[in-house]
Amino acid sequence: MVKRKLCEPLENRKGNLYFDGFSVVELAQKYDTPLYVLSEKRVRENYNRLYDAIVDKYKDVRIYYACKANTNLTLLKLLQSEGAYLDAVSPGEVFMGLSSGFTPDRILFTGISVRPDELKFLADLGVTINIDCQSELEHLLKIVVPSTISVRVNPEVGDGHHDHCITAGPNVKFGICDEEDILKVYADAKKARVEHFGIHMHIGSGISKIDSYVQAVKRFLDIAKRVHDELDITFDFIDLGGGFGVSYRPDDEPFDLSEFVSKVVSLFKSKVKAYKLGKPFLCVEPGRYLVCDAGILLTTVNMVKVTSHRKFVGVDSGFNTLIRPAMYGSYHHILVANKLNLKDSGIFDVVGPLCESGDVLAKDRELPPVVEGDVLAVLNAGAYGFSMSSQYNSRPRAAEVMMRQGKPVLIREREQFQDLLTSQRVALQGE
Ligand code: LLP
Repeated sequence: MVKRKLCEPLENRKGNLYFDGFSVVELAQKYDTPLYVLSEKRVRENYNRLYDAIVDKYKDVRIYYACKANTNLTLLKLLQSEGAYLDAVSPGEVFMGLSSGFTPDRILFTGISVRPDELKFLADLGVTINIDCQSELEHLLKIVVPSTISVRVNPEVGDGHHDHCITAGPNVKFGICDEEDILKVYADAKKARVEHFGIHMHIGSGISKIDSYVQAVKRFLDIAKRVHDELDITFDFIDLGGGFGVSYRPDDEPFDLSEFVSKVVSLFKSKVKAYKLGKPFLCVEPGRYLVCDAGILLTTVNMVKVTSHRKFVGVDSGFNTLIRPAMYGSYHHILVANKLNLKDSGIFDVVGPLCESGDVLAKDRELPPVVEGDVLAVLNAGAYGFSMSSQYNSRPRAAEVMMRQGKPVLIREREQFQDLLTSQRVALQGE
């Protein structure tokens, strides 16, 4: 198997895995497992690397953190302190953003199949709404005429690491694709006296090749030009969405930020100028890029079972804790935390404690000799890890720790059995 070269915040100290300078085995002993660990430093680096690269080419930039990737309050607060804006896709995410200190003017709501009472909740707060279809605009205008609206355009080019994560293209539910329909939404909003406008696309998640992105941006900006020219609408912001891929496998090519800037940001800049679109903010909406490699999941080995067919390593995290492998067949690299210098000893399936055969974190994985009690580190778990976790099989959810200046800080307590009872009511006949 290709060996993974460890890079920050991961470090190999005499065969033991350290995360932000702290032994992960000690973290597991101190807080128990399953445990999500996030690096404050790495999140800040990811944010600033992206911001600096874009602002160097185009100065009016806004980074909206797509908080579906991870809504931990401490994480939201730290991104806010860096100057991030927030992409929210549900009223609950807006609530989380507000609770962490984001003001409504820094939140963009991009929903689908939105209920009228949800629109009212957002309108009352003054959060900018990214309209997904004509009827959503109509419902909104019955509640309020907002000062700003944005429209989610489906540029009919999509991409992503899995079919479930491609969010543009002819067969996809998101956004508006027919140009006449897009023009009508803007025309109706303008007629209703909406004063400020944005335009938005998000083509998918886990994009590793830039070509589809470039193609989508071209079509998208041509549509923006039509809206501008035919309706005399100037955009305050143009949002290109998120979806920037990260390397999960040791041999994955990392997302090429300089290529993104040279191909996408340059294209944006030149088209905005050529089409005379004014001076809109260039917005991007990354989730994964900001937090994925800033997080790991620690899990303990409960069992090693060898049959005449297969070798299983049973751990205390299943798809209740990290669903990506079961849901998308996603690869997450796994390290045996105290055996980094040992040679691989065999091929194992790393499986969880749930009563489903699909509860597999890794299939056919080469690992060093593993024994019960070993701590495994599942890498790239900062995005879509905890946020997609559940209490399935009545298993309380994991705890979360943030590494801050070399020290661990508990940022979410481990759920207890009592939490399984929250909001349930017992209704028995005769009571
Ligand atoms: N903006 C919108 C409107 C989105 O729907 C998404 C993701 C993003 C931004 C951020 O995408 P990112 O930069 O994180 O790729 N659960 C899947 C990912 C689903 C993402 C859905 N939308 C996974 O674990 O891979």
